[in-house]
Amino acid sequence: LSGWLRYAPLPSSVSWPYIPHNIVVLNTTKTSPVYTAGQELQRGIQSILGQDCYVSSDSTHESIIVGTLDAYVNAYGNLSQTVDLKEDGFWLSTEGNTVQILGQNERGTLYGAFEYLSMLAQGNFSSVAYASNPDAPIRWVNQWDNLDGSIERGFGGASIFFANGSIVDDLTRVAEYARLLASVGINAIVVNNVNANSTILTPDNINGLGRIADTMRPYGVQIGLSLYFASPTQGVKGQANLTTFDPLDSEVVTWWTNVTSQIYDAIPDMAGYLVKANSEGQPGPITYNRTLAEGANLFAKAVQPYGGIVMFRAFVYNQLNESDWKADRANAAVDFFKPLDGEFDDNVVVQIKYGPIDFQVREPASPLFANLRKTSMAVELQVSQEYLGQQTHLVYLPPLWETVLGFDMRVDNETSLVRNILAGRTFERSLGGYAAVVNVGTNQTWLGSHLSMANFYAYGKLAWDPTQDTTKIHEDWTRLTFGLDQNVIDTITQMAVESWPAYENYSGNLGIQTLTDILYTHFGPNPQSQDNNGWGQWTRADHDTIGMDRTVSNGTGFSGTYPPQIAAMYENISTTPDDLLLWFHHVPYTQRLKSGKTVIQHFYDAHYAGAETAQTFAARWQSLRGKIDDQRFDEQLYRLKYQAGHSIIWRDAIVDFYHNISGIADDHNRVGNH
Ligand code: GCU
Repeated sequence: LSGWLRYAPLPSSVSWPYIPHNIVVLNTTKTSPVYTAGQELQRGIQSILGQDCYVSSDSTHESIIVGTLDAYVNAYGNLSQTVDLKEDGFWLSTEGNTVQILGQNERGTLYGAFEYLSMLAQGNFSSVAYASNPDAPIRWVNQWDNLDGSIERGFGGASIFFANGSIVDDLTRVAEYARLLASVGINAIVVNNVNANSTILTPDNINGLGRIADTMRPYGVQIGLSLYFASPTQGVKGQANLTTFDPLDSEVVTWWTNVTSQIYDAIPDMAGYLVKANSEGQPGPITYNRTLAEGANLFAKAVQPYGGIVMFRAFVYNQLNESDWKADRANAAVDFFKPLDGEFDDNVVVQIKYGPIDFQVREPASPLFANLRKTSMAVELQVSQEYLGQQTHLVYLPPLWETVLGFDMRVDNETSLVRNILAGRTFERSLGGYAAVVNVGTNQTWLGSHLSMANFYAYGKLAWDPTQDTTKIHEDWTRLTFGLDQNVIDTITQMAVESWPAYENYSGNLGIQTLTDILYTHFGPNPQSQDNNGWGQWTRADHDTIGMDRTVSNGTGFSGTYPPQIAAMYENISTTPDDLLLWFHHVPYTQRLKSGKTVIQHFYDAHYAGAETAQTFAARWQSLRGKIDDQRFDEQLYRLKYQAGHSIIWRDAIVDFYHNISGIADDHNRVGNH
């Protein structure tokens, strides 16, 4: 249950210097994250080092001092050095026999305490003194929980928040979740599904949400809500019932103003709303011929007096006709949002999936990031492995996320990394950042699989500092989760590093997306499900050719939605990287890659290579028997064995499909003969 916050006792081989016994807490209000920080330090030091500490408000010479920087300065005067703290940042000093953990604000203080405890738990007693600041102000998670207790694309059990249409009574797990979130710097959570339901807005449920917020507040985690755009017409119990949800109708404005005021009565620090509108059958402003900006601003104005924000999703697209060569779902976000740049209120943040389609194993960075200069933006990542094996496959996602966060859009022919755009630096925005769909559930492992928790941990770490090395993050996570044995750390981390490339190899190569079933389960191979429907995740595979022509010269024009240097790169086959070839170009199966192989031979080889890698995982894990407790060892082994078998199913389904359709033999004579 404790995930990476196990605080396992250090092995006797580790020795450590003097750690103060006195924890001075500069705020003793029980709901304050500063108070939580004191409790957490006491608990962590006792568990990791076996040392009892007492919490007091008196300072002796040798203490662990925990509080906001302001409170510290009030009590003790200025620090000897100047520290530059941004919102939510902290100062951590372990120099001498005093530890200083000083936050820019209360939650920053708690983040500093977790950082210190993470050092101790990893046996790191080095003397440090530094300020740590988050790269971006928005570091949220989204849960896709329904009020009936089910979770859309959740693979770790039922909701910890909801059951039977309302908020559960026992919020113990919610507090535990908040603790995990705070420990990696997450400052807000949207608790209900983006495919929202108006019943979240009954007075009873608003009260229940108040209890959730009360539970998470001591961890500095604010809550936000997903809204159903047509709620005013839904006959929500306890609220007025209207005949319209037109965002410019004054009754509708009043309706949302009233509901928002009820919500802020129950949750004075509510973070804001998340809105999915006019997408996948959801109602929205376009229903009334209003713009998406007018829809977003309706909510922005309602939360503005309370300091709330609106996360407005860019995942808006229509069903398309595949017989139209130029139709392209990938164009939808730029088509819908670019014309609205500058029309969103200041407290609106457009939340953009990392790629133009939908959480696929490989996608180019969404061009929308480069097309909104006067609009705040956040990226939407997915920890929940919807198309990526649903937590039955080991897939360590941060290397995938890095391909987007570190991508240089070349806006105005200058360096413009996506992560700098998100932080607001490129276009000088004060808001922006990160959201990830996490979908933990009641399962004891949270996500259904022990190793998947590395994705959750790394998400928080990268949202705080996207320049961190993803392998190093995984090593830290492994140390915290499975202990200090170097062989355990190296083995698990090496498997993680190989896992996304392996999954890409056996599930979808060269930018063809994830060839999983897209019609029903989003699980397992189903390459034919991509085509002959209106969803626009097409491969356009026929007997001779494959891939989407997204060029300006002959295709959908998508490549032209990037700034000129990037557009030019993707426009031409010769400059398009192999791993996105079929995303941007429609080519014969015999097209040569930069590697010298043909497309079809690459498909065959990659599938065999990927499945082969996946089949090593169980054996590598087995080499750790006895170094990991039996329960976690067995549970994970079961999953890795499943993955080994399923990777072969993937391999054979895909290579057979393309062998049949192309009629081209495998150079190594494997396909058709297995
Ligand atoms: C995916 C997912 C849906 C989800 C949608 C969204 O298509 O399969 O379950 O509702 O994304 O992000 O809105």
